Amino acid sequence: MPEDHFGEEVAARYDMSAADMFDPDVLDPAVDFLAELAGDGAALELGIGTGRVALPLSERGVRVSGIDLSESMVARLREKPGGDEIDVAIGDFSTTKVEGAFSLAYLVFNTIGNLTTQDAQVACFENVASHLEPGGCFVIELGVPGLRTLPPGERFQVFEFSPEHIGIDEYDVENQGLVSHHLSPAEGSWQLVSMPFRYAWPAELDLMARLAGMTLRERWSGWNREPFTSESSKHVSVWEKRA
Ligand SMILES: C[S@@+](CC[C@H](N)C(=O)[O-])C[C@H]1O[C@@H](n2cnc3c(N)ncnc32)[C@H](O)[C@@H]1O
Repeated sequence: MPEDHFGEEVAARYDMSAADMFDPDVLDPAVDFLAELAGDGAALELGIGTGRVALPLSERGVRVSGIDLSESMVARLREKPGGDEIDVAIGDFSTTKVEGAFSLAYLVFNTIGNLTTQDAQVACFENVASHLEPGGCFVIELGVPGLRTLPPGERFQVFEFSPEHIGIDEYDVENQGLVSHHLSPAEGSWQLVSMPFRYAWPAELDLMARLAGMTLRERWSGWNREPFTSESSKHVSVWEKRA
């Protein structure tokens, strides 16, 4: 089982520290996008967390199930209105099976990167494919690796610097890894939370999808279907399970 980086301390602060991601301007387009793809079918969220996306999607009438490693994150989901109605399996989303067949599976907010080996990411695509109906879709929201702006010899990249949050990515280019360091003010001092990721280019994910019997259907740079270009810093990709 992978290490749980979303234990009690992180879970207790998650909704506050990710407040920007709960902003309706950010969240509503994601929920619209996912609801449209789910159609009349059911949806499976990998890394469901505190239900940021799952709860509003469920409110739209989509039956949502989830998988998450962190009991603490899921406990926060359970406390919220509607949180009891969502089936959640505790486990690793690269291997854990849940009941049912889904028209949609999704993995947002860079969470595929929490799987820190290529084998685990490949296994995740295969696990998703085994849960999808033919023609069902898998959606990933993921940052494009920031290597174009990492000068030779450097390994640190500041991605946010504000009084509330200092975010620094530490790249390990040889191993296609990075550690995201987050510094936040806490009780008159600073709290540091560091989390390991494996970064991957969109093309590598397309190959993982192909290995799992899925084909790229759409790629955008955001939930409002903004075009994906050389300058895009993130992508929203949709692969379809072949019939
Ligand atoms: C950044 S949070 C995203 C939560 C939610 N999807 C959202 O958008 O707010 C990542 C979530 O994925 C879960 N997670 C990370 N790696 C996992 C794994 N290998 N298997 C299952 N859950 C995992 C964490 O416990 C955490 O709840």
